[in-house]
Amino acid sequence: MKSLFYSRFFILLPWVLIVIIMIDIDTKRSSVRNTAHFYLSRLGSAQREVRTVQTSSATNRTVLPTIYAITPTYSRAVQKAELTRLANTFRQVPQFHWIVVEDSNARTELVSRFLARSGVQYTHLHIFTPRRFKRTGMPRATEQRNAALGWLRMHRSSKDNGVVFFADDDNTYSLELFEEMRSTRRVSVWPVGLVGGRRYERPLVEKGKVVGWYTGWRADRPFAIDMAGFAVNLQVILANPRALFKRRGAKPGMQESDFLKQITRVEDLEPKANNCTQVLVWHTRTEKVNLGNEPKRHQDSVFIEV
Ligand SMILES: *[C@@H]1O[C@H](CO)[C@@H](O)[C@H](O)[C@H]1NC(C)=O
Ligand SMILES: *[C@@H]1O[C@H](CO)[C@@H](O)[C@H](O)[C@H]1NC(C)=O
Repeated sequence: MKSLFYSRFFILLPWVLIVIIMIDIDTKRSSVRNTAHFYLSRLGSAQREVRTVQTSSATNRTVLPTIYAITPTYSRAVQKAELTRLANTFRQVPQFHWIVVEDSNARTELVSRFLARSGVQYTHLHIFTPRRFKRTGMPRATEQRNAALGWLRMHRSSKDNGVVFFADDDNTYSLELFEEMRSTRRVSVWPVGLVGGRRYERPLVEKGKVVGWYTGWRADRPFAIDMAGFAVNLQVILANPRALFKRRGAKPGMQESDFLKQITRVEDLEPKANNCTQVLVWHTRTEKVNLGNEPKRHQDSVFIEV
């Protein structure tokens, strides 16, 4: 009797154990499944949140006017260093479009490569300044700025929301400057540091209107302002298709005035930077580099782009 019990018991025991193990695995699995489901669902909702944030910022971005910064540039020892400083700033500005115009017969490899890796949305143009205009006492970068204006008039329309700014490559720009200029309705102005032989120049503002100029040089200019001291709404550029930088009869330092005269009046200027009391851009200019020890013939075993 006893032996029968034991034999039954030992026959059943493995089966009982198997059933117990199966039940255990099944509960574990379902709990794993539940936990996984829990985390996945949270992940899913998190992803959805991220996506909604992106969509709203994307729609916000289309609402934000694009800043078109026009930078004339030419080949020289410090060119890549200057463009690097600019790109490091511009990369951080939302809704930004960099229009780089080279003074050359073709797009150079250096600038093409540089822009492709810059992380900034850009348009790369080129136009060669005729040699007869390359003399001291002649205004500079006239053709390049006009080429950029021409590009905007060809490729942008009344549907596009934007602000145009002339960003020379020898200045330093704060990020706040771009947020100030973004709300430009027609033409906005602000102070510029380290320019005109002074610590700064600025438009004089009374009751929110520009009434004159604090400048060390020819205060009688209609717009005594540096190229880095103003921005123009894209629609003003498009509505005045003949407004250009003038070569004929233009003197250096008069380019800004000659251009602004064609599109606005002093009393219509919009003062930015806290009624023109803050300096957000500096005419830094890089020191002329000393290449006195540069060998006449290439001596290094490799060619290095500088
Ligand atoms: C940008 O998005 C935020 C959050 O969705 C919203 O509150 C704000 O009004 C938007 N701004 C513009 C200019 O549409
Ligand atoms: C600029 O000045 C005007 C008139 O005094 C004033 O109404 C306005 O709030 C000022 N703007 C800023 C940004 O301080």
